[in-house]
Amino acid sequence: MKTIKIFMMNTTTLIGPFRQLLTMTRLPLKGAVSDDDLQVITEAGIIVSNGKIEAIGKFIDLKASADNVVIHELKGDHVCLPGFVDSHTHICFGGSRANDYAMRNAGKSYLEIAKAGGGIWDTVTQTRKASQEALEKHTVKLANRHLKNGVTTIEVKSGYGLSVAEELKMLNAIKGANEKVAADLISTCLAAHMLPKDYTGTHAAYLTEIATVLFPILKEEQLSHRIDAFVEESAFSAAQITPYFQKAKDMGFDITVHADQFSTSGSQVAVNFNAISADHLEASTEQEIALLAKSDVVATALPGASLGLGCGFTPARKLLDAGGALAIASDHNPGSAPMGDLLTQAAILGTFEKLSNAEVLAGITFRAAAALKLEDRGRIDVGLSADFIGFHTNNYQDILYYQGNLKPCMVWKNGRLVFDKHH
Ligand code: NIG
Ligand code: FE
Repeated sequence: MKTIKIFMMNTTTLIGPFRQLLTMTRLPLKGAVSDDDLQVITEAGIIVSNGKIEAIGKFIDLKASADNVVIHELKGDHVCLPGFVDSHTHICFGGSRANDYAMRNAGKSYLEIAKAGGGIWDTVTQTRKASQEALEKHTVKLANRHLKNGVTTIEVKSGYGLSVAEELKMLNAIKGANEKVAADLISTCLAAHMLPKDYTGTHAAYLTEIATVLFPILKEEQLSHRIDAFVEESAFSAAQITPYFQKAKDMGFDITVHADQFSTSGSQVAVNFNAISADHLEASTEQEIALLAKSDVVATALPGASLGLGCGFTPARKLLDAGGALAIASDHNPGSAPMGDLLTQAAILGTFEKLSNAEVLAGITFRAAAALKLEDRGRIDVGLSADFIGFHTNNYQDILYYQGNLKPCMVWKNGRLVFDKHH
């Protein structure tokens, strides 16, 4: 697959006909939605120009009215959706944690393995050993796998460096990877993933060092505008993280939180800081659900972490019914979520949590884009980025029905066909 980022020449292209095109427009950012709310255009076409969507409508109408347009005519049945957005991943890392997985299945818990020196710290050790080039190459590989699965925007966290120099190495690797892949990689600084085991000072001293030394470099070198932290007793408590997030906020960073994975308190922190998103939430109770639902924080379910750890899912149904905004992301990482298949995971979450097709698809398109504060994607509408995908079927319901086994056969990014299974 060719993955160099090039922007569309000044050609205008009409693509179609799609048996069904789901625009994902006219749906609210928050709350429950039913499939009746979906806008489905049949026998549809899309006109793209300069990487943006110029028009959508019936293919024959667009064909009749358009001159000077290159026509990319599709044969057979295709359903079109917006390109997927994966708003939470850790795909920049070294090594493997296959042994952690085996140990968990033999009865050890994620937190026990971490205490014994495995877990996140094991990946930190292996990531520190890897060169920036090797990390970049691995990130490119995983991002391209995502792209073939229809994910055209991918958030990528640091957090396996855990020192100023090693976090910079990771963020530079992510930046380098972004230049080599067709998907957009949105980087997030997760230096507050855990207190590094080789750090001799306190949690507070570590966080102060990161905030005073690393944050200004992130700004200056435009390495990330997003700050994340793992809020959990085994990582950083709500009290420890508060001054850190305050500094980040004062410097104009967007905040996102690993919240309520094993115990609650993270979602309260997210709401206090008006974070863009609070992610995980497997342990959230009615209280946290209510809190998040009335806030502007996007609640992000990470079913891949539930599947990787063998624990319960984020209460997605309850979050939606309470009026919350629900995104669904893969959390792809070598420890808790090794699978990395967003569509499969989202479909399975839908099965267990009784989510409509509209809710699952919203969670991996425009609601996930909102979790990254991106308003130019996640829907198919005039003026938005021409990021969309085609599936070989005539019924959009098949996409979740096959629980991720029906993969996209075509992926367009910024109006360019970047993956085509037929060729
Ligand atoms: O989102 N919970 C903390 N961080 C990651 C896991 C990282 C790892 O296990 O390497 C997560 O699940
Ligand atoms: Fe994560």
